[in-house]
Amino acid sequence: MFTSSPLTGSKAEQYAALTGQVRALLHGETDRIANAANLSALVYHALPDLNWVGFYLFDGTELVVGPFQGLPACVRIPLDKGVCGAAARTRQTQRVDDVHAFPGHIACDGASRSELVVPLFAGERLIGVFDLDSPVPARFDADDQAGLEAIAALYVESLG
Ligand code: SME
Repeated sequence: MFTSSPLTGSKAEQYAALTGQVRALLHGETDRIANAANLSALVYHALPDLNWVGFYLFDGTELVVGPFQGLPACVRIPLDKGVCGAAARTRQTQRVDDVHAFPGHIACDGASRSELVVPLFAGERLIGVFDLDSPVPARFDADDQAGLEAIAALYVESLG
């Protein structure tokens, strides 16, 4: 049984603890769907003020929705569309304080106000993106970005 440990301390300390939980959760497993599913659930329940946490996986042409927590989402995102496409295309994390001000933002859950999308690359190979949405404007700061990039890197590493 998984028992969640509440996160305490500074934000950096909380991410350090969460990262430890991620390592334990992914340990010994390389399946990309299994690890994406468990990671989505862990992060969704560990961090406050999120309405969607999940993965879009690259199928060689576009991003296809993978394991997630939250409301049903759009299934396919071309690389030239949305915050997710921008992350995959530019290889840069997209931290969007106000999704309504982002040209081409794709609204899946109308409640979303801010978003963080971390691109997932194994070397040069695009695996997909790790996407988090919040109903709170400017929910994600630089500490969140650093913490979630570290978690995304552990996911990529887990695939072997
Ligand atoms: N907002 C994203 C689409 C995915 S949903 O947020 C789950 C985008 O603009 O790419």
